[in-house]
Amino acid sequence: MKVVKVGLLGLGTVGGGTVNVLTKNAQEISRRSGCEIVVSSASARDITRPRICNTDTLHLTTDSQEIINDPDVQIVVELMGGIEPAKSLILEALSKGKHVVTANKALIANHGNELFVAAAENKVTLAYEAAIAGGIPIVKAMREGLSANSIEWLAGIINGTGNFILTEMFEKGSVFSDVLKEAQELGYAEADPEYDVEGIDAAHKLCILASLAFGMPLNFERVYTEGISTVTPLDIAYADELGYRVKHLGVARKTKMGVEMRVHPTLIPEKRLIANVDGVMNAVVVKGNAVGPTLYYGAGAGAEATASAVIADIIDICRDLDTPTVNAVPALGFATSALEELPI
Ligand code: NAP
Ligand code: HSE
Repeated sequence: MKVVKVGLLGLGTVGGGTVNVLTKNAQEISRRSGCEIVVSSASARDITRPRICNTDTLHLTTDSQEIINDPDVQIVVELMGGIEPAKSLILEALSKGKHVVTANKALIANHGNELFVAAAENKVTLAYEAAIAGGIPIVKAMREGLSANSIEWLAGIINGTGNFILTEMFEKGSVFSDVLKEAQELGYAEADPEYDVEGIDAAHKLCILASLAFGMPLNFERVYTEGISTVTPLDIAYADELGYRVKHLGVARKTKMGVEMRVHPTLIPEKRLIANVDGVMNAVVVKGNAVGPTLYYGAGAGAEATASAVIADIIDICRDLDTPTVNAVPALGFATSALEELPI
């Protein structure tokens, strides 16, 4: 069986989860991919720290360039987060003809237009399923399952940390800062948790989803962004008295003026499905003009849930390794050569 070597940039929550899931599901994964997928190396800032995965067979390094420059590594998986050095490392990997998988929504939302052009120019794949809604295969659903539809709108809970905090405040009357600390300990939160609680992480994901749904370039700066940091226990209690739940939603919809994109706390009638999506779970409703509303639900964060999405991308790449036109489907919802602005 063909051996495919993978190099990980970052070995934290998602990187460690990826190694663990590749190990525990090795048989199924090789049957489905047709390859033996081997994580040969991983980079981290401090390689002496304990890890959530077994590192015995990994070459650990603090120098990510070693992985990019290794001719045997065919797939680079970026799980370090942030803009730099992640962006430069991905561009370099693409220019060397390596396929790249990332879970980095901040990077895709801010620089995806440039990165997808680089991937297309180098005839390699840049895949990002794990960047949106953790383990939910929402990118595949939108690019494949809903591809016959014109999308009218999408709306959902797309930040696990925020939903975990709101749920614990509602169910247990917990204090905001205590629940945030717990979310950090569970590996749900971003390196800078302001991204979760101020809605920035949800805005990153929404702009990527909107690009997929409406075939337009990424426009992160056009997303109206409001987080949950100002939601108080009293707001949650009053909403409950009136029969509502407070949920943080991302909404993107086609209007006569263009595409509207917004993330903010919302009052949802308690009987609605989305009002009952609790804890770290995410849910996204996508309305197509042929299929009608469709619902996608699952864990929005966490080591193995996110690894599930990362590895699905790795398996897709392995299946196509011998196919010359890898990026036949544009990575986002638009042809990468046409980056003209749409009115939003
Ligand atoms: P994390 O636990 O903080 O892990 C980040 C890893 O990257 C660490 O191993 C860190 O090294 C390494 N790293 C950071 N900067 C580096 C550098 N300059 N050079 C080499 N290594 C570097 O983060 P995470 O939660 O796994 O998240 C990783 C990415 O996945 C982020 O883009 C995040 O937004 C995304 N994501 C996370 C989740 C989740 O549930 N956590 C879900 C979906 C997407 P050290 O270990 O030595 O510090
Ligand atoms: N911090 C993110 C969240 C990780 O809580 O949703 C998953 O993208």
